[in-house]
Amino acid sequence: MTTQPTQSSKPAAWTANDLAADPHGAADKADRVQRMFAAIAGSYDLNNRLHSFFQDQRWRRKAVALVGIAPGDRVLDVACGTGDLSEAFARAGALVTGVDFTEPMLEIARRKVARRSDLDRRPDYRQGDAMNLAFPDRSFDVVSIAFGLRNVAEPARALREFHRVLRPGGRLVVLEFSEPRQPIVAALNRIYSGRVMPLTATLLARDRSGAYRYLPRSVQTFASAEALAAMVREAGFEVRRQKAMTFGVCTATVAIAR
Ligand SMILES: C[S@@+](CC[C@H](N)C(=O)[O-])C[C@H]1O[C@@H](n2cnc3c(N)ncnc32)[C@H](O)[C@@H]1O
Repeated sequence: MTTQPTQSSKPAAWTANDLAADPHGAADKADRVQRMFAAIAGSYDLNNRLHSFFQDQRWRRKAVALVGIAPGDRVLDVACGTGDLSEAFARAGALVTGVDFTEPMLEIARRKVARRSDLDRRPDYRQGDAMNLAFPDRSFDVVSIAFGLRNVAEPARALREFHRVLRPGGRLVVLEFSEPRQPIVAALNRIYSGRVMPLTATLLARDRSGAYRYLPRSVQTFASAEALAAMVREAGFEVRRQKAMTFGVCTATVAIAR
């Protein structure tokens, strides 16, 4: 007889040893990231709201405003997770496709959107890989990715895919955590995100995957906002703007496909 592993018997996606090294260098990063999001999907939204002090939805709405949506724009929201950014785009009148490779996150996105009565057109959610998108060249006006690029195994490859599926002149918006510039704010943010949040978020999610210890480490070891802009340029985009939000805790990078 085979038994299904329970949450507690599953190996952690990220142990303290894994995180002592650079998690972006793990050969099986994609598999670990997928297991981690599958483990925390159920409490993902609540953790986001509480641990961002209810700023996360504001950041997503700002990303939509910065990229500028005309009614009927075709938007591909990559690493859409539970669909909060996809919904914000749909609310602005876009035709949205959300793609993510973690099915339990998509299940929540689909369940949430089924309850929305304020959306004329609901986002269409599909399972897929950011590095190998199942869409023809030049098929979208906008590509977005919120708190996702850092989690992708090869971000530069994903950015090239985003460029391929965008029409020339199409827009890209990347939302990602960043380091506040003001030293006191940066120090407070390090204490909060490195020591407080991993404890409280892990408790709230009853998580054993290591997701909320991976989070600050993955931010610390990922590209700075400046390096991210360089990566976006390298993939064939012209960076139009970087907007730091909430003391620079989060930065939106807006670019145009050349
Ligand atoms: C932190 S969540 C962000 C979700 C959502 N964008 C938001 O704003 O809350 C990161 C998401 O990236 C997804 N992800 C990571 N690597 C991926 C890949 N290669 N292809 C598709 N999705 C990926 C994970 O499954 C997860 O749902």
